[in-house]
Amino acid sequence: MNILLIVSGGIAAFKALELVRLLRKAGHGVTGVLTAGGAHFVTPLSLQALTETRVYSDLFSLTDESEMGHIQLSRAADLVVVAPASADILSSMATGRAHDLATTLLLATDKPVLAAPAMNVRMWLHPATVANVATLRSRGVSLVGPDEGVMACHEFGPGRLAEPPAIFAAIEAFFAPGRMAGKHVLVTSGPTHEPIDPVRYIANRSSGRQGTAIAAALLRLGARVTLVSGPTSQELPAGASIRRVETAAEMLAACQAALPADAAVFAAAVADWHVDAAAQKLKKQPGAAPPSLVLHQNPDILATISEPGPRRPRLVVGFAAETENVAANASAKRLRKGCDWIVANDVSPATGIMAGEANQVHLVTAEGEEDWPMLPKTEVAARLAARIAEALA
Ligand code: C5P
Repeated sequence: MNILLIVSGGIAAFKALELVRLLRKAGHGVTGVLTAGGAHFVTPLSLQALTETRVYSDLFSLTDESEMGHIQLSRAADLVVVAPASADILSSMATGRAHDLATTLLLATDKPVLAAPAMNVRMWLHPATVANVATLRSRGVSLVGPDEGVMACHEFGPGRLAEPPAIFAAIEAFFAPGRMAGKHVLVTSGPTHEPIDPVRYIANRSSGRQGTAIAAALLRLGARVTLVSGPTSQELPAGASIRRVETAAEMLAACQAALPADAAVFAAAVADWHVDAAAQKLKKQPGAAPPSLVLHQNPDILATISEPGPRRPRLVVGFAAETENVAANASAKRLRKGCDWIVANDVSPATGIMAGEANQVHLVTAEGEEDWPMLPKTEVAARLAARIAEALA
């Protein structure tokens, strides 16, 4: 595979050389691009020696007809990797700036982008960077790291560049030929937020852990995964195309836009209703009755995607979070929603499943019901991914 590696500024830039070594050893072609900042920490010559090809560092040297144009350069790779990705380059990527070769390539590319951020902890936690990262993720940019630890500036916290082997593994995940190579799976995860007014919303206790783990397990099997995630603090798996959404309506639109898919797994806890949201923040009025919320039914994403038609995924898997009569309700739900399988679990508070690490599920298919033991959510995910691979084989 061919990788376009953009090295932006920062003390961690030297680690990019180790990443190149790992990639070359695994047989990948690497073309290096140095930003002006990156060139302060890594010389073009050292990058060139390790990539064994010419290194690009200036937009205007590419205007020569005899050179490879920047559009061509941005498209020649299978994957664009930004490592380290400074706060500045993340900001340029989020706002669509094209002020040097690296940012022009990032704006012009039609290939997946993986960024490995590295910066001071306060810069990483600054709302501006948080917003930029959220924007990039919602556009499908994958992130690996940053790690947490002592930084070059002696502060402690998240911001360290992920170690080269971890970045290498995230890159490999893009190309891993596995049992599910060539298969596309759509996964929904997390809660939805339905606004009441500009500052309040209705949500639920879903952590997004199970859906995120399923996406990661499918990626490990080599599937191409689109993960449509409601608001969650989970670290979403590098290598998935990530679509971050808030409301059920946005989730449905993102799912429809992600089709066609070979399989779809609906692990999200979607709100059943949305509110007639007030345009301004609702205020207490002395002596007046509290405002009433007018609720409207949300679209049922699982039922909509399960409708027969040319775009229906071959295998549609729904979840059923029940607090009583789990198996019976799940079987009825499978028929009502028109999906193929239901993964049912008991989410009554005593089980601790809803926001916990473990899950005990029942898999309901046309053939019957299987009771799985209590397992870590990652293990439930691995088993489910293996069953999906089997069903699509
Ligand atoms: O009807 P209920 O919410 O119990 O169904 C749960 C299943 O349906 C889950 O797979 C969930 O992701 C999906 N669902 C959906 N859209 C909704 C409600 C639930 O996709 N509006």
